[in-house]
Amino acid sequence: MKIENAAIIGAGAIGLGWAIVFARAGVNVSVFDSDPEQLKSFRSKVEKRVEQLAEIGILTPSANEVLGRIKQSSSLSAACAEAGYIQESGPERIEIKVSILSAIEDASDSSCIIASSSSAIRPSLMAEGMKSAERFLVVHPANPPYLLPIAEVVPSLETSANSIERSLEFLRQVGMQPVLIKGEPEGFVFNRLQGALLREAYCLVRDGVIAADELDLLVTQGLGRRWSIIGPFATSALNVKGGNRSHAARMADSYHRMGLERGQDDPWSDELVDQVSNSIEEKWKINDWEENVMRRDLALMKLVKYINQDPDLRL
Ligand SMILES: NC(=O)c1ccc[n+]([C@@H]2O[C@H](COP(=O)([O-])OP(=O)(O)OC[C@H]3O[C@@H](n4cnc5c(N)ncnc54)[C@H](O)[C@@H]3O)[C@@H](O)[C@H]2O)c1
Repeated sequence: MKIENAAIIGAGAIGLGWAIVFARAGVNVSVFDSDPEQLKSFRSKVEKRVEQLAEIGILTPSANEVLGRIKQSSSLSAACAEAGYIQESGPERIEIKVSILSAIEDASDSSCIIASSSSAIRPSLMAEGMKSAERFLVVHPANPPYLLPIAEVVPSLETSANSIERSLEFLRQVGMQPVLIKGEPEGFVFNRLQGALLREAYCLVRDGVIAADELDLLVTQGLGRRWSIIGPFATSALNVKGGNRSHAARMADSYHRMGLERGQDDPWSDELVDQVSNSIEEKWKINDWEENVMRRDLALMKLVKYINQDPDLRL
């Protein structure tokens, strides 16, 4: 069943992003922030973003229609009263999250989903003491959510299957591609991946191997450009004929030694490589390897054409 009304608690960068995601998909949004100044400036900020999206030509429906669905509320309880889905987007501090979540719980209908935008706090920690933990989970976006359409859905042990299903359904309703994360790892997956790259980047700069700005260049002009089209597993599969198994046969020992240099002893077992290959080959069939490489290159050509045409894309 479609959810028609949502609330956002915390009108900072992420609250603003969610408001656009929900409203452009036809959902009415009530936004509350405990800082009245922040709530006031939220209006002009959200108007500016929505108008920019319309100007660039990537907003449907019209800016007026989207903005007409976003309202500021003068209290948390007023914001939550009608909501079928609430996105907590306050500061990343456990004690503040716990206090906001408790207020949301009291102000919302017992069927309403309560999601937190937390970047790294385990949902079970936030759910401790909640009366209705079965309807609470983390829905972690990337910033800004209205341009990066993924969300990590991280249930706690107490989140009900029904709440998980309804959250996934709502996120799809508003045009996001939700990814279900199991086991509540600290930092979930998005920030663990970001962290793995950043940890190595810091080590390389520390060891005098490369300057920070040159490392950024390697990512923006190389790894990142490719990753905007295909992920790291598909990249490996297309870099070596024969896919991930061939890539691992050629590269696994070297990557293992690099990990050992940093105190990480995680060799890729044959079973693990098989598991990855089987999943990646569902989309990137080994028999179509040459054609898939051509598809990747064509996508890159189109991307490069776009980037070359517009100086705003070369920051
Ligand atoms: N910024 C990012 O890149 C990013 C990405 C993904 C997730 N997140 C997560 O989203 C959440 C919000 O991040 P942000 O960057 O928007 O922070 P932010 O500091 O921009 O916004 C937080 C807002 O919460 C308000 N607030 C504080 N206490 C409150 C309360 N008791 N009730 C209501 N509002 C309250 C503040 O006034 C502020 O406007 C955090 O948990 C963060 O980790 C951030």
